[in-house]
Amino acid sequence: MFSRLFHRVAVLAAPLCLFLLSGCSKEALTVRQSTLDPKGPVAQMQYDVFMDTVYLVVVLFALVGGLLVYAVIRFRARATDDPKPIVEEGHGNPLIEIGLITASIGALVFIAIPTLSAIWYTNDVPTEAVATSKLSAWYPRVGADGKENYPKAVEEQVLEIDVIGKQWWFRFEYPQLGLTSDAKHTVPNEIVIPKGKAVRINLRSEDVIHSFWIPKIAGKVDLMPGRKNLMWIQANEVGHYYGQCAEFCGDSHAYMLFRCEVVEPAAFDAWVKAQKAPAAEPAAGTKAAKGKELFAAKTCAMCHNITGQFGAGMFAPDLTHVASRKSLAGAWLDNRDLQAQRALEKKEQNTEASVPVDPATLKANLIKWIGSSGTSHGADGKPTKDVKPGNRMHYYAMFNVAGLNVSKQQFTAEELDCLAEYLLTLK
Ligand code: CUA
Repeated sequence: MFSRLFHRVAVLAAPLCLFLLSGCSKEALTVRQSTLDPKGPVAQMQYDVFMDTVYLVVVLFALVGGLLVYAVIRFRARATDDPKPIVEEGHGNPLIEIGLITASIGALVFIAIPTLSAIWYTNDVPTEAVATSKLSAWYPRVGADGKENYPKAVEEQVLEIDVIGKQWWFRFEYPQLGLTSDAKHTVPNEIVIPKGKAVRINLRSEDVIHSFWIPKIAGKVDLMPGRKNLMWIQANEVGHYYGQCAEFCGDSHAYMLFRCEVVEPAAFDAWVKAQKAPAAEPAAGTKAAKGKELFAAKTCAMCHNITGQFGAGMFAPDLTHVASRKSLAGAWLDNRDLQAQRALEKKEQNTEASVPVDPATLKANLIKWIGSSGTSHGADGKPTKDVKPGNRMHYYAMFNVAGLNVSKQQFTAEELDCLAEYLLTLK
């Protein structure tokens, strides 16, 4: 009788176990936004706490579940049983009760120790503690060209990055290095950090609550209006990492992504210099030059900054180097050749490896993005299905003062083509 029941349970449980285990392949665990594939000390610490809890819970589940199954089988009603009344209730067994309370306290302590130490570890932004992360230890204050990379006052500090959340994109600023809004050098949606160095992240929001999360490196801490939150991150492998806003923040929350590029410390300097360079002027008489005129005429320049050419707009992402970014529209559209990207990931078994920007893909994305946004709050005033629903591009109702929306930012196919050609020159 018992063996037949056990046989039935096993027959039911086996396919379930197989199904669950099928989710445990290496590919499934190392996907782009996997927290089970930590690539830095903060993510590793968070992973360890998670696994400690999993181990404990598995043991508890086996114990409680095992006892339950045992009791159900051992004390089940049998046809031959006397129809006796149910056993009277007693006080119970004090030894078992005290034992269970002690065991529960033990289990809580078992979880509390790694949890508390992880809270302290992730909260303790390293400054003086990590000597090798000090700016002066990996990034010379005065470059080979004799120019100062950062002021003397910050050489003992770690690299700091301000992260500002907006509906629905991230703005990154490097105050120590002069990459700030005031200096008209900001970096939208792609954060660049040096490999193996602790980086302090200052989190703010200019509208609603957002959350900063790079699953393989660290996460997640909220960006809150009127409040400055802190965290620190470090990545131990170079590559292209995928981040995501992790707090519901409106229409396009699910499309509020960002990327994190981890580079060798030596390459970081070149990236900073490239960010500070003004945009190159498009050649006269080209489609790109026509596109630049449209950029001004259709009031794009009211919201977007392009250092060296248009300097009024700070409301929307800076476009000075938009053509060098691997993603567009809050990192929702990927500017790389995706087939080449997938082939590379498969070959290297590494989702952090990344192919460069593909100009054809970038151009198609630019046209798709700008073209569709014009209809997001269309002639009838109703939002329509869009690359990013509810996005603020062309949301010119807000400029519906002083007749500023008269231009009606609708683009013909030819205009879109010129505009995309222009943006492609912004490397
Ligand atoms: Cu920003 Cu969700």
